[in-house]
Amino acid sequence: MNRFFNKTPLISHSEEIHSPLKYSVQLFVVAVLFIMAAVAHGTEKSVNIIYTGSLQGQLEPCGCSPQSDFGGIARIGGWLEEHRNELKPYILLDAGNFAGEDRPQGRLKTEAMLQSFSSIHYDAIALSDRELALPEEYFYPLLQKYTVPVIATLPDYTRSISVTRNSFNIIVNTDPAGPLEGSINILLTALTVNEAKHLKGWDIIISAANEEIEEPLKENGTLILSAYPKGKKLGILTIQKTEKGTLTYSHRWQAVGNDLKENDSVRSVLDDYDRKVAQLMKDRAIPLAGTTFVGTEKCAECHQPFYEQWKNTRHADALASLEEAGKASDPECIVCHVLGFGQDGGFFSRATTPKLANVQCESCHGLNRDHLNDFSPMQPVHEQICKECHTKENSPEFDYPVYLKKIKH
Ligand code: HEC
Ligand code: HEC
Ligand code: HEC
Ligand code: HEC
Repeated sequence: MNRFFNKTPLISHSEEIHSPLKYSVQLFVVAVLFIMAAVAHGTEKSVNIIYTGSLQGQLEPCGCSPQSDFGGIARIGGWLEEHRNELKPYILLDAGNFAGEDRPQGRLKTEAMLQSFSSIHYDAIALSDRELALPEEYFYPLLQKYTVPVIATLPDYTRSISVTRNSFNIIVNTDPAGPLEGSINILLTALTVNEAKHLKGWDIIISAANEEIEEPLKENGTLILSAYPKGKKLGILTIQKTEKGTLTYSHRWQAVGNDLKENDSVRSVLDDYDRKVAQLMKDRAIPLAGTTFVGTEKCAECHQPFYEQWKNTRHADALASLEEAGKASDPECIVCHVLGFGQDGGFFSRATTPKLANVQCESCHGLNRDHLNDFSPMQPVHEQICKECHTKENSPEFDYPVYLKKIKH
């Protein structure tokens, strides 16, 4: 049944599948084969399966630290664009769980993700738990708008897509029950790698269960892969047909780091997303209540030396970092880069609350207006307060004693 380490040359199937792309893809492949034959190239026996999954609405990383600066759909698109010729022939898949949360900003992420998939020309995108949890009256029109080749095991959706690359007829399916009619049968699934082990007959299973598993797993001749969470690495599986017709494989990851050039059209999708997020934020503007936080300038009146010291830390310029990144109106970023965002009397925008920009005295010492009159104690500062912002993801190198030294006053 299964073709890895197993041996029969494959007979192509006559039953045909439901991909609107079929004919153009075939023509294209014929052209490629022709050229390759002309240069007597040997690669017509191989195909690259390039995959993402479990992107979870992460359009790009925050860039808070070089150590965690991985992922980003514009980088994925840029890298593919740059390496297209050496990767050919390839098929590009997303195993699902790409959508953002079902709230206004999350919906903008989902839409930008679909637009990006369309720009990069994915061959198949599975709808998984996150997508299927979205209200259909919102999600379905989006799919139609961006004409992305989605597949799902649901009544109104196409379950599988068939693509031809060189001598391979690749069927990409979302239904664990098959059928297994291609020369390579790929299942895209939300099952974990452990759960996927129990499925039989597939050549390749790609899981979008948010697991970091470095090496492909071989189980009864099936290769099980886990798409790297949040697109931090792009999976590349090369399938090769030997003289005897056996399939062999090699697998590698392409790290999606900040050295990769971005794809221009995806970049403009993301810039457009930033503008829409800024608009959302504007729409939610609430009239300022009497400012509760005091702001650094006031503290400086009695604590000048401390103020001077603080001025020289990166906390004092934290909002500028967002402004440079075009993210100063993104609530998901602002929350750690200013004073009291989302709290009564906290920062809202540079225009409305200029005195509360950046990480300030009260970000660590807390709010106690009485202190100005009676010098009553401020909240004690401890490691946990730092870690509300210095999370593993945003500040992977955070080490309390080391960091404390740098802000000492
Ligand atoms: C309200 C969120 C927040 C809190 C609370 C916070 N930080 Fe920060 N911290 C930041 C941000 C944001 C930056 C980066 C600013 C920039 O460069 O844009 C930063 C940067 C730093 C840096 C500079 C890192 C470097 O390598 O130069 C140090 C050191 C630091 N913080 C220490 C601390 C310590 C120690 C605490 C707790 C006592 C703390 N921070 C509490 C948000 C916070
Ligand atoms: C959970 C809190 C948190 C959130 C949310 C957050 N940041 Fe940060 N950011 C930090 C901290 C902490 C640092 C300092 C990290 C360090 O040096 O250890 C930082 C640093 C930065 C830096 C400075 C990097 C450098 O090397 O100079 C940039 C730029 C930045 N963040 C952008 C963003 C953007 C864009 C977003 C939203 C997509 C965001 N941040 C969301 C906490 C946060
Ligand atoms: C990143 C967190 C952070 C920020 C921002 C910060 N502090 Fe502190 N501050 C601390 C820590 C930590 C200590 C020492 C620990 C303690 O004793 O609570 C401290 C101590 C102090 C002390 C007591 C010093 C002593 O000798 O007892 C004063 C006064 C003070 N800070 C004022 C300020 C003022 C004013 C600002 C703003 C200009 C500021 N701090 C900004 C974390 C911070
Ligand atoms: C009107 C002057 C004045 C202003 C304004 C002021 N403080 Fe103080 N602060 C004091 C004095 C005086 C002390 C010393 C009190 C003591 O030792 O009993 C002090 C002590 C502190 C301490 C160390 C003792 C403790 O309670 O932890 C911190 C921290 C502190 N101030 C933070 C701040 C911050 C943050 C601001 C701004 C929000 C601020 N102060 C504004 C006068 C002021």
